[in-house]
Amino acid sequence: MEKRIIEFPQHAEKLLEVLKSGRVLLVAQGHEGKPNPMTIAWGSIMFAWGKPIFVAMVRDSRHTYKLLEESNHFTVNFFDEGYNKAMGFCGTKSGRDYDKFKETNLTPIKAKAVDSPVIEEAFLHMECKVVYKQEMNPEALDPSILAAHYPKDVAEKTYHTLYYGEIVEMYGNIAQ
Ligand SMILES: Cc1cc2nc3c(=O)[nH]c(=O)nc-3n(C[C@H](O)[C@H](O)[C@H](O)COP(=O)(O)O)c2cc1C
Repeated sequence: MEKRIIEFPQHAEKLLEVLKSGRVLLVAQGHEGKPNPMTIAWGSIMFAWGKPIFVAMVRDSRHTYKLLEESNHFTVNFFDEGYNKAMGFCGTKSGRDYDKFKETNLTPIKAKAVDSPVIEEAFLHMECKVVYKQEMNPEALDPSILAAHYPKDVAEKTYHTLYYGEIVEMYGNIAQ
């Protein structure tokens, strides 16, 4: 039985460790209503405007970026070890070319408060509504990070947009 987790940020440390390990899938769903899971490892859990917030950093070249621009909501799904293949697929293939739910056999299930589904196999789900977003300003970024992650010779615009999603639901099975 999945437990609704309302205490926050009680589990932030564990969840950030899972995020850093590349075991998190963000699911976005645009106008067409087709959900798309994308592996993420950059983000944060924070508290602002009196709300718990998950901040996702999504590069403009991702299909997920287009979906988030269309919809303003997403879910964040945390996985135990054992899903490396699915994480790899969702982190290298685009929803423009594949139905990633079909290819990975992961199961989208209806969320409680947002239109994007959560993923059944994840041990914890966050449902987020975007309350703020911010395009990166490359001029304000440390030059060494700029050179390492945003090389000049890439023709397409590849900066990240930060999506601040209010965590309106958070539930699953997590060790207390
Ligand atoms: C471990 C891992 C972590 C990643 N983290 C991010 C991230 O935080 N933000 C991002 O924009 N892309 C990240 N990516 C890359 C996207 O997951 C990848 O480009 C994906 O194919 C995009 O899918 P989409 O086009 O369906 O949105 C990550 C990839 C991996 C393997």
